[in-house]
Amino acid sequence: MQAERILGRLADIPPGEGRTFELDGERIAVFHTRAGAVFATSAACPHKGGPLADGLIGGTTVICPLHERVYDLATGRELTGSCDIRTYPVRLREDGTVLLAVTDAALAG
Ligand code: FES
Repeated sequence: MQAERILGRLADIPPGEGRTFELDGERIAVFHTRAGAVFATSAACPHKGGPLADGLIGGTTVICPLHERVYDLATGRELTGSCDIRTYPVRLREDGTVLLAVTDAALAG
């Protein structure tokens, strides 16, 4: 069964930036692109734990602020290698709330 959980408010994420939210002890990076799209990924870069929400967003990619690996925000694929990140299904509610779709195992890995 699928449900939705509140991650935060889009108003807290300026366009072109990301922020880290926590849900059930899991840290999730939420990105607000300049085009108005919203994406969510694991918060830590799999290389050495860089804070992806602090990375540079370009279109639908993010560049890790530590060693500049590049990830596709929609698919999680690393464009500079083969160490992908996790993505989460999110949508915007009419009032600007960012919702994460969760299933029973959604946050379990
Ligand atoms: S920690 Fe992200 S590229 Fe090294």
